[in-house]
Amino acid sequence: MIKKGDIYYPTKEIKNKAWVKDKKIYKEAEKDPIKFWENLAKEIFWFNKWKKGFVHKPPYFQWFTEGKINITSNIFEHNSLGWEKIKNKTAIIWEPELIDEKPRILTYNELSGEVNKFANALKRLGVRKGDRVGIYLPMIPEVIISILACARIGAIHAVVFSAFSPNALKIRLQDTEAKVLITADGYFRRGKIIDLKKNADQGIQETKVKKVIIVKRAENKIKMEKERDFWWQDLVEKESVQCEPRVMDSEDTLFILYTSGSTGKPKGTVHACGGYTVQAKWTGKWIFDLHDNDIMWCTADVGWVTGHTYGVYSPLLNGIPTLIYEGSPDWPNLDRWAQIIEKHKVNIFYTAPTAVRMFKKYGTEFIEKYKFDTLRILGSVGEPIDEAAWNWYFKEVGKEKCPILDTWWQTETGGILITSLPGVGPFKPCFTGLPLPGLKFDILDEKGKSLPSNKEGNLVLLPPFTPGLLRGIYKNPKKYLETYWNEYGKKVYFTSDAAYKDKNGLIRIVGRVDDVIKVAGHRLSTGELEDAISRIPDISECAVIGIPDEIKGEALLSFVVLKKEKSLEQVQEEIKKQIRKEIGPIASIKNVYLVKDLPKTRSGKIMRRILKRLFTKEELGDISTLANPESVNQIKKVIIQ
Ligand code: PRX
Repeated sequence: MIKKGDIYYPTKEIKNKAWVKDKKIYKEAEKDPIKFWENLAKEIFWFNKWKKGFVHKPPYFQWFTEGKINITSNIFEHNSLGWEKIKNKTAIIWEPELIDEKPRILTYNELSGEVNKFANALKRLGVRKGDRVGIYLPMIPEVIISILACARIGAIHAVVFSAFSPNALKIRLQDTEAKVLITADGYFRRGKIIDLKKNADQGIQETKVKKVIIVKRAENKIKMEKERDFWWQDLVEKESVQCEPRVMDSEDTLFILYTSGSTGKPKGTVHACGGYTVQAKWTGKWIFDLHDNDIMWCTADVGWVTGHTYGVYSPLLNGIPTLIYEGSPDWPNLDRWAQIIEKHKVNIFYTAPTAVRMFKKYGTEFIEKYKFDTLRILGSVGEPIDEAAWNWYFKEVGKEKCPILDTWWQTETGGILITSLPGVGPFKPCFTGLPLPGLKFDILDEKGKSLPSNKEGNLVLLPPFTPGLLRGIYKNPKKYLETYWNEYGKKVYFTSDAAYKDKNGLIRIVGRVDDVIKVAGHRLSTGELEDAISRIPDISECAVIGIPDEIKGEALLSFVVLKKEKSLEQVQEEIKKQIRKEIGPIASIKNVYLVKDLPKTRSGKIMRRILKRLFTKEELGDISTLANPESVNQIKKVIIQ
């Protein structure tokens, strides 16, 4: 990489290889963004071409109207690289956690056969177009096969992160009203077997799930319920490797994925077949500069949107192998990821800042022996990457030759929207870079006025938005309107992020402006956490805040008002258990404070901002307008203890 001041630019070598190397693409796309996307969509296989590129009926919109498509046809028989060329090429490289277990490799042809067999099995169980199918699987090839099998027959997949608790699974299954759940007998995590089936059995209580399909992974002894539970392997045994793709309308739903918002209930973001396919294909190709011989490893679990788009759909639409790994990053040793990169000759590596910071904490010794000479491009996603972590990633992993793509996007956007392109740059630590060609972002003040450079405001996306943007919140149009189209009216998509741009237009993300907390890149809502904690008997009220944390980005603190006296240790234990039960281990609370009262406005709103400032050493501001300003001093004393 070439360094000028604090900014990096691609070398000639990177530029020469890159699909996009000329800045003028931004100007061209800006002239007519709809045309720009339509041109990209032409390289996708459609059963019938669309009639209109973009139709806007605020707050709703459509892309590629009346176009007919199936995303799996674009992965298999109509892959843009040509089926003959890719059918014997590797599609999935699966690395198990157990060191002495062999990786599983599936070619495109083998994957296609498995997908079709399972798609036929789903049909035999009565799954039809538009039915929702719950997927609660670890990182094993079957998670990809399940997703693609649903897409093949037009069923809507709703993946639930396998580390989510039974209760979190239940809430999502209730919302989707899925009748089928796909899970496993267990999986390996830090050398231990996790009993996923037990969680699934609890999670399907009080839902409409009538059939459970279980992948045999861990040879774990599980209870099978007659007529409800089926082994995956038994179901697919006699099925054919052929299954006609269901012809889908561009605007039919491809998947629902839940994410946390400001309130207690997770929101099911709805993604459409046509727009998502176009965006997944092209963002991958241009941003990660995917070429025929590349191997991509996106470390995100398929339970998150990053895993959906850059662990599954994007690499496969581009005809390259995707690597997935079952286990923990530092198991059995700190250099496990490094070993995997070298063993499988990974070229494109995409991870989260929290992982980089975790490794950085251990210095450099554990990876010194690795040359990483196959790596070409590094990516980061999910939260801001600070300069120290950026530098460590750039030097120790990328050996100063790989561009670091700091990619901004959201579950809602379906794909990356802001990042500098590898063949163009520039790359500036802490800045995500430029919006992709064809996208119109702005930074607005509270009144909706566009702000000049270096002024912080709300990041918004303007029409025609992007083909992959969510089409709704499942069964909740009110929430859709309130969350995204309320702040600045129905034609402006509000991201809920604060940001500013530098004089060159590079965007720096400051963080969320709503009550979403990012712990290790995972999106959690204060409302969801507080609801869970408040259900503990003897707790009358609570507030949860996120404070800066060296490794996790943010850590959770909880302030609790009790109805009757209890020891701190007991409350801590109860909260820990409750959070694990309601959400899962990703949401661990770092500290609990027992307080007499929480700071509130006169209308009764808890002022989490003030609680946060007690830790960040920012000015508290005027607290005299609070209904109970004395609560702040009392809390200060509790914190100091
Ligand atoms: O606050 C932004 C942050 O993550 C939020 C979206 O979270 P989620 O829906 O879980 O999707 C994460 C993976 C796509 C955003 O509103 N965020 C995402 N990427 C970045 C980021 N913050 C700073 N820099 C990023 N590169």
